[in-house]
Amino acid sequence: MADNDSGSKRPATRVVTGGRRKKWTGAVVNPPVWRGSTHLYNDVAHLREGLKTNDDGRFFYGRRGSPTQWSLAEALTEMEPGAAGTMLYPSGVAAISCALLAVLQPGDEVLLTDSSYDPSRSFADAFLKRMGITARYYDPLIGSGIASLFGPRTKAVLLESPGSLTFEVQDVPAICEAARTAGIVTLLDNTWATSRFFPALEHGVDIAIIAATKYIVGHSDVMMGAVTTHKEYWTRLRRTAQQLGQVVSPDDAYLAARGLRTLEVRLRQHEASALQIAHWLKARPEVGLVLHPALTDCPGHEIWKRDFKGSSGLFSFELKDGDDQSRAAFIDALTLFGIGYSWGGFESLALPVDPGKHRTVTDWTAGGTLVRLNIGLEDPEDLIADLAKAFEHYHSAKS
Ligand SMILES: Cc1ncc(COP(=O)(O)O)c(C=O)c1O
Repeated sequence: MADNDSGSKRPATRVVTGGRRKKWTGAVVNPPVWRGSTHLYNDVAHLREGLKTNDDGRFFYGRRGSPTQWSLAEALTEMEPGAAGTMLYPSGVAAISCALLAVLQPGDEVLLTDSSYDPSRSFADAFLKRMGITARYYDPLIGSGIASLFGPRTKAVLLESPGSLTFEVQDVPAICEAARTAGIVTLLDNTWATSRFFPALEHGVDIAIIAATKYIVGHSDVMMGAVTTHKEYWTRLRRTAQQLGQVVSPDDAYLAARGLRTLEVRLRQHEASALQIAHWLKARPEVGLVLHPALTDCPGHEIWKRDFKGSSGLFSFELKDGDDQSRAAFIDALTLFGIGYSWGGFESLALPVDPGKHRTVTDWTAGGTLVRLNIGLEDPEDLIADLAKAFEHYHSAKS
């Protein structure tokens, strides 16, 4: 394989070929784990050569990575048409915080969707506030109406589409167009769809953020974040990450690259199984709303149809007349669904979620209680049988 030859390939092929430069892989298929803090130079002239550029692909010092991290970053860049580069971080939250720090300074204002992941909100409300940066929230379904919120201090808009508890699909192109016209930078938490189902930069986003912990890694055994951007913000993003000392271990980068190679088939299976289960739930008498972007109940469903190339395995549903206790009985009765945070791994998970607690400018009220499911790679018929049994426990808890 020639170096960097995958630009013209289709997305599923790029997932497999991305970042696999021969000089990084050697004789094996995936770049091996290059552990090291010190990189040894041949002589002083070579040492000085190392200082001349700050690009991936040049040995310098462990904090700037090695072929293991460079290869993963390059693969993620190749998956995002229009991107100039990708920085890796030790978690999704680190990726979100560092991306915001790269574009904001004291006195600025950032607008965040009211459906934002809770730690994104707390970073803005606590940390950014201490730096003299104001956070203001907006309705996730605001679309181009966001322009009416822009003030002279507004410098960035954080989007998350769909939201990871309530799944509102945002009109990303409209929001980004309004922001671009006003000279405001847009950042999208694109963890749910990944660039495979939603190529963010092609839809107008400036900075695409992914908690690679979820679908990229895919095996629930590594924490990682990635931020991909185009030329305009690349240098700033990279410098900020380096100034903050962000680096991922080569072992983790190796595992993430290993996971990435099967992203296409995993996502397709998550999609098919989650859809089957979402439709099954929708037909259950105990279930109210099924908040899955591909179902009509979901706010922004029409936008999902317009913009997305697929749907992944995470969604919520409402237990119509449920209370906290009956919901707990339902979840506790599941045997194939683990109870735990995170998602995007091969194993199914269930979680009670109460999104109302995390809202400030939009009301989120459901008739009952919400359960969030991560649909893994088990046989969906077994998952359905497990859910059916849990409904029996739910009824007993209610009576
Ligand atoms: C939507 C979303 N963004 C970001 C993150 C943060 O990722 P990490 O757990 O790797 O910090 C999460 C984690 O659950 C998430 O659900």
